[in-house]
Amino acid sequence: MNAYEIRNSFLDFFRSKEHTIVPSAPIVVKNDPTLMFTNAGMNQFKDIFLGNQPSKWKRAADSQKCLRVSGKHNDLEEVGHDTYHHTMFEMLGNWSFGDYFKKEAIAYAWEYLTEVVKIDKDRLYVTVFGGDEKDGQPADMEAYGYWKDHVSEDRIIYGNKKDNFWEMGETGPCGPCSEIHIDLRDDEARKQIPGRDLVNMDDPQVIEIWNLVFMQYNRMADGHLVELPAKHVDTGMGFERLVRVLQGKTSNYDTDVFQPIIQAIAKMSGIEYGKAEKTDVAMRVIADHLRAVSFAIADGQLPSNNGAGYVIRRVLRRAVRYGFTFLGFEEPFVCQLLPILVQQMEHNYPEIKSQQELVSKVIREEEASFLRTLAQGIKRFEGYVEQHPQQDIDGNFAFELFDTFGFPIDLTQLMASEKGINVDMEGFKANLEEQKNRSRKAAEKANGDWVVVNESEQPTEFVGYTDMSCESHILRFREVVAKKKTHFEIVLDKTPFYAEMGGEVGDTGTLTSENETVKILNTVKENNLVIHITEQLPQNPETAFNAAIDVERRQRIANNHSATHLMHAALRQVLGTHVEQKGSLVDDQRLRFDFSHFSKMTPEEIRQVEKIVNQNPECDLRRNPD
Ligand code: ALA
Repeated sequence: MNAYEIRNSFLDFFRSKEHTIVPSAPIVVKNDPTLMFTNAGMNQFKDIFLGNQPSKWKRAADSQKCLRVSGKHNDLEEVGHDTYHHTMFEMLGNWSFGDYFKKEAIAYAWEYLTEVVKIDKDRLYVTVFGGDEKDGQPADMEAYGYWKDHVSEDRIIYGNKKDNFWEMGETGPCGPCSEIHIDLRDDEARKQIPGRDLVNMDDPQVIEIWNLVFMQYNRMADGHLVELPAKHVDTGMGFERLVRVLQGKTSNYDTDVFQPIIQAIAKMSGIEYGKAEKTDVAMRVIADHLRAVSFAIADGQLPSNNGAGYVIRRVLRRAVRYGFTFLGFEEPFVCQLLPILVQQMEHNYPEIKSQQELVSKVIREEEASFLRTLAQGIKRFEGYVEQHPQQDIDGNFAFELFDTFGFPIDLTQLMASEKGINVDMEGFKANLEEQKNRSRKAAEKANGDWVVVNESEQPTEFVGYTDMSCESHILRFREVVAKKKTHFEIVLDKTPFYAEMGGEVGDTGTLTSENETVKILNTVKENNLVIHITEQLPQNPETAFNAAIDVERRQRIANNHSATHLMHAALRQVLGTHVEQKGSLVDDQRLRFDFSHFSKMTPEEIRQVEKIVNQNPECDLRRNPD
């Protein structure tokens, strides 16, 4: 089977088990401060697990685009050097939302692997959670018992919390998990060392392919576990690994997921893949990073100097640097590979096709500018060596190259070794540590746990399209310390406050009870919770409040919001229908509208757009719900 057929066989199997096939969520996460990028198939279901939102389905399955380049799950440094880690990968997953649990999850996984795609049972091992004293968690004897129905006990291995208790992040839904591993070594090697001894030992031929998580808990800010309202199943199988297994390859990069890209790189560089470790690593890095960067941009994350944009910039620069150093590319080359990726993926992920021109242009510009920076950095380096003949490279200077010119330290070391000198690594590391501490301090945000005031299973009712105020009760609140300042976050049962979303600022207003009034300074959305921000907690949170927004301010925001729609329509009229919104900022004073187009607008085009917007009869602006 080719990759396309393998993906479909998974989805077809779970469709036959009454799962609804859902689309992949975007790879870029916009409404969850605990995540920058989708790192697992379950992210889009987080609120269902936490009980914040009811589920539309009892069972679902999909193939989810994931990116593991930041936060708790970060594989970036391994990528390219081994044959089975990736930044962007597809996660095949099936979910039960309060429906089936361990028994069926295990039976389905086993049936798919051994009967549908017919993997040799003799190569499979499974792990179950062995318990954790600190968390007060016993071993998962239940999962052990169900596995015994399918495999002999010498193939079931107990694992520790690190491998067999899955958590989405520092806080959030989690639970014990059971992994399926496969031993891909040849018969001779398998005879010498039993596969079970190599499970979770970083052997490139004995690898995990599927993780079955039994979601039972929510990890709180202080580290303790709270039972979820219901029990769920969350599974994730590495698609690229499965393809490798079924295509009988020893590396994910040898499958039809990566080979077309790698062969194109080999052709462009005139260097054959499979001949030398260094050039092979570089080709794998580029093939991997092309996917990560292209999908992130297609989903709206442009490279930039901070946050998620900076992560994408770093990933792209890593690819450029490997191509520059090891394959001799001095002109933009990553962007030239995009058409191959589009051809491979457009059937499952049409966004990569519809955004192709934008993605290509953004990557090309990033590459060109980084290649210029590299050239400047090399000049600086040469100048330094001339001024300090026969001396090692000072750690501060190596850090300057790293920080200002984006030179990873191994590039500086490589250039130094070509001159027969060393780099002061101690000094470099000290600088790096200092910088890390500075940014850690700047980003520090500590969320207290929620204090429940009134129990409710229902999400907040939003009445703000029609009502500017309403009677309301506090469901829960928490204290948050960010950048050394404390504020409180409040969730209400009913609210007229519109939460900040898609670049549009949230409402401000007041909560008033018989005895007091507190100011709401902003309203934001976290996952699907509407959060009202205040510096002052009401003295009596149990009482009834009148929640009222600042109506005049809302009207001004609404006007600017409507104007973005008018502007979008006018831009499409003047520039063409390829114009797509890429972001916007709307507040009570102004609006900014980001869009994709391939050249700078001419003054005449700008005038035309202004004219169309101003003449529009809809300019009688009233907020409309979309
Ligand atoms: N959420 C689980 C994982 O990412 C399935 O491994």
